[in-house]
Amino acid sequence: MKVTIQKYDPAVDALPYTKDYDIPYTENMTALKAILDVHEKCEPIAFDYSCRGRVCGRCSVMVNGTAGTACTTAIPDKAVTIEPLRGFRIVKDLVVDKTEFHDRISALELRSRATEISYEDVLAPVDYDNVFMKLDPLEWCARCGSCQAMCPAVHDASSKDTYLGPAGMIAIGLRFFDPYDTGDRISQAVQEGLWNCIMCGMCDEVCPALEIEHIATWTKLREEATARNLTQKKAPLLPFG
Ligand code: SF4
Ligand code: SF4
Ligand code: FES
Repeated sequence: MKVTIQKYDPAVDALPYTKDYDIPYTENMTALKAILDVHEKCEPIAFDYSCRGRVCGRCSVMVNGTAGTACTTAIPDKAVTIEPLRGFRIVKDLVVDKTEFHDRISALELRSRATEISYEDVLAPVDYDNVFMKLDPLEWCARCGSCQAMCPAVHDASSKDTYLGPAGMIAIGLRFFDPYDTGDRISQAVQEGLWNCIMCGMCDEVCPALEIEHIATWTKLREEATARNLTQKKAPLLPFG
């Protein structure tokens, strides 16, 4: 089969270019297997991976133009094109710099709380529907960036600087459902562009974390925002915390 890979070494190349490789197709081949085969049998490719099972989020790439984790993306048997994840700075070949993206999500995921969690808080009855059906699934986010790469609202020039994007919005949703978080997550979601999402569902389609229900999460956040009359597309800056 033909595997086309985008190569680029900023130290020596003026621009990215693509190169074709010939490797045997194996049954149920993933994009990661194809990259590994090219790397081991043809020539070195800079790429990143660890878990091989949609947990670490490191292997995300574009496969025939669609973002996804390489370890879970099946490829066709004749030809495939693999490129670095769209929207991120290329470090080398298929490795991109996700530092800023990860730092932002880490900051959003920090629990906001003015007082310490008390013994009584811990003993309080658990809202199972909230914790197990809504919060737990969001913890599956591997921060792979696939949703971010494919989100039309993130790449739309008119909302580029006003929409945080689906991965960050999942982090806000996680704390919204967290019974111990006391931050005003609805104001934060609106401020970060909740209404800029066009509800296309692309994030849900490419996400390797099948547990996450993106549209249901956006809908819940929007319902809460509407109940508080926070319905502006581009929100005013509101205090958070
Ligand atoms: S549903 Fe919203 S967040 Fe998801 S890809 Fe579409 S515009 Fe982006
Ligand atoms: S929501 Fe899904 S696609 Fe987006 S970063 Fe998390 S795991 Fe990846
Ligand atoms: S190798 Fe960890 S998500 Fe693919």
